[in-house]
Amino acid sequence: MEDLIKKAVQTASLDEREIVALLSDASCGDALRAAADGVRASTVGPGVHLRGLIEFTNVCRHNCAYCGLRLGNKDLKRYRLSAETIIRAAETAAERGIKTIVLQGGEDMFFTPARLAPIIDKLKSMGLAVTLGLGELSRNDYRALKEAGVDRYLLRIETTDPALYSQLNPGMSLESRMRCLDDLNELDFETGSGIMTGLPGQSLRSIARDLLYFKRLDFDMIGIGPFIPHPCTPLRGAAAGDLGLALRVTALARLLMPGINIPATTAMESLSPGGRMMALSSGANVVMPNITPSEGRPFYEIYPGKAGSSDDPLEYLDTLIADIRNSGRTISEGIGSRRKG
Ligand code: 5AD
Ligand code: SF4
Repeated sequence: MEDLIKKAVQTASLDEREIVALLSDASCGDALRAAADGVRASTVGPGVHLRGLIEFTNVCRHNCAYCGLRLGNKDLKRYRLSAETIIRAAETAAERGIKTIVLQGGEDMFFTPARLAPIIDKLKSMGLAVTLGLGELSRNDYRALKEAGVDRYLLRIETTDPALYSQLNPGMSLESRMRCLDDLNELDFETGSGIMTGLPGQSLRSIARDLLYFKRLDFDMIGIGPFIPHPCTPLRGAAAGDLGLALRVTALARLLMPGINIPATTAMESLSPGGRMMALSSGANVVMPNITPSEGRPFYEIYPGKAGSSDDPLEYLDTLIADIRNSGRTISEGIGSRRKG
């Protein structure tokens, strides 16, 4: 295993079999994470980029088997934030030094590019970078959003395993999702993708293939989070993902894609307190503090026990910044685009 880790550090390249070997051996987790931390330090450096996350709508037209926002969950109060509310939250975050706003929503067709454009325009005029996550849209809509000023787009592939994908995402297709990601790349967004780890029926081999797909498509950001079962979904009885595996996948993402941005995801922290800081020492270099105003915050329940949901956003942000500084890292001053090359 030591040799494999050395090879990954030196060449940023492993084949499927080698990735599976590293993923299946929990005992090499610490060495793998330390190696990824070293590569993170020498490529993207000590700075942690903060992204202010605004969950602006929890309305969704899909029925993903794992997600609490699924259309079939009638027990959830649905909300859409007004343009004024979104802009006010962004202003407060900008005053605290946040340089990127992430607008994240379910696949809510109310928010057309035309409705989003004035909001994006306002955020851009404040000097903020704008990231959007609104699911699968047409190429024309992506183009309109790019023209409206959106810098980055987040769309997790969730899994590249065709059988697992169609089982978990009824009415959706892996092909269409891959088409969206190709469009986003071609339209020159900074594109983020990612997966959940520990999904029922997901093999280590399929995770290895996910990582190789990410490397091949040269995405700019990769988010990895453990699956956490939600009681109002068909997967309510499934076991949660394992933090150790999620961290090994994060570390491998850094080793295979040395210069990209990798968030320490909220799901890591929700699964196990301290998980986010562990991700930051396993190759991650981005944190996305949730700054959603209280009218939406408790209702963006993709999984239960989401870290920070019941805290005051600004107090939470201050605690996070303190934790990052105490761990010997710095808060990045720039807007934190991926540096290619
Ligand atoms: N557990 C963990 N992550 C989840 N997501 C959706 N449902 C869950 C869950 N139950 C993730 C998906 C989605 C992202 C916004 O949240 O990967 O892309
Ligand atoms: Fe909707 Fe996304 Fe949840 Fe699927 S994962 S139900 S598309 S919010």
